[in-house]
Amino acid sequence: MSILSGKHILLGVTGSIAGYKAADLASKLAQAGAQVDVILTGAGEKFVTPLTFQSVTGRRAYTDVDLWGKEAHVLHVSFGKTADLLVIAPCTADTMAKLANGFADNLLTVTALAAQCPLIIAPAMDGGMFGHPATQENLAKLKERGAIIVGPAEGHLASGLTGTGRMVEPAEIFGHIRIALGRNGKLAGKKVVVTAGGTQESIDPVRVITNRSSGKQGYALAQAVLDSGADVCLITAPTALTPPVGARVVHVKSVQEMLDAVMKESADVLIMAAAGADFRPVQAAKDKLKKRDGIPQVELEAAPDILGTVADSRSEKKRFQIVAGFAAESRNLLENASEKLKSKKLDFIVANNISAEDAGFAVETNRVTLLFANGLKETLPLMSKIEVAEKIIEHISKLLE
Ligand code: CTP
Repeated sequence: MSILSGKHILLGVTGSIAGYKAADLASKLAQAGAQVDVILTGAGEKFVTPLTFQSVTGRRAYTDVDLWGKEAHVLHVSFGKTADLLVIAPCTADTMAKLANGFADNLLTVTALAAQCPLIIAPAMDGGMFGHPATQENLAKLKERGAIIVGPAEGHLASGLTGTGRMVEPAEIFGHIRIALGRNGKLAGKKVVVTAGGTQESIDPVRVITNRSSGKQGYALAQAVLDSGADVCLITAPTALTPPVGARVVHVKSVQEMLDAVMKESADVLIMAAAGADFRPVQAAKDKLKKRDGIPQVELEAAPDILGTVADSRSEKKRFQIVAGFAAESRNLLENASEKLKSKKLDFIVANNISAEDAGFAVETNRVTLLFANGLKETLPLMSKIEVAEKIIEHISKLLE
């Protein structure tokens, strides 16, 4: 289940041209299963209409007219009580000043005063306004009170100038919303290292030996770790994916680089979802191999086994409390997986049959069996890689108990 499903999010939209991006944010939140109530300020309404938000959230959007309506005296209080999160995006310098000083002269600021939930602010204004000492003072005040400030970003501004004041993109705000909602999750306070993607072993400056791993399962795991309130370090081989907001990302190419990166970390949990190379060229050619020189003979050697190295160092140093691996197999799935579970001294292994069309590399779904060191086994039905990731995190949190 998505961290957003069933969550009550209040989205405040103030007077900035970035308001059109807030519609995208509202849509993303609604699609993820959140109940999104939008409150527009008078200036916000000048840029985007309540209808825009109603169309993407399926719920009525509120304006200052509602401050004076029949239910006005309870509306802001009930919003303040039931909301899981108040997000103001875009937030103008004016609204920030009101929030910092406790003003309550419109439905949004009245609600903000009544709200008992975390507050995320995504400022949007001209660079000069953002840099003004008054705005900076307000920002500092809000931060001190626990508000989460996201952005602003640097770039082209509506004034035609370039500077710091652009609202950050909806996807980034969405990521911060997930982090805020997961803050007290079942892995709060823990640190998890996740590896992802297929390593690349150089043959020459142009060519590599790699594998079919897309990194999808590893990236889904990194997101699930963040959703459960832990810090995540994502050690990733090259992929086409965007890392989740909030992950500390270490980019590597070869299995040796991945091994070095893993051994630098010390965390509660290591999840090796990456498909590391088993073989690599003994030596990469310094210059591009030319066709005219004939078919090259590439001599291979064994690549370091990351989990094997971790297993050797586990007893002497408590580097990782829990270590989980994956077993990508095309035959004898459980037999091979259980052998790897033992030889790599894992707490559990996620066995997946890569010969199935709806599981394994590059597809969105996976079909896995979890094998535990204590002999227990759980076969999961076909599910999305996101759901598999959530299941794995559930098991990790139980093992950590
Ligand atoms: N792995 C690793 N280092 C490698 C290769 C793989 O630590 N050089 C990890 C993977 O991240 C995975 C587990 O080992 O968690 C099993 O990987 P897999 O490719 O299924 O098995 P191998 O150990 O490579 O064995 P085989 O090639 O014989 O299947």
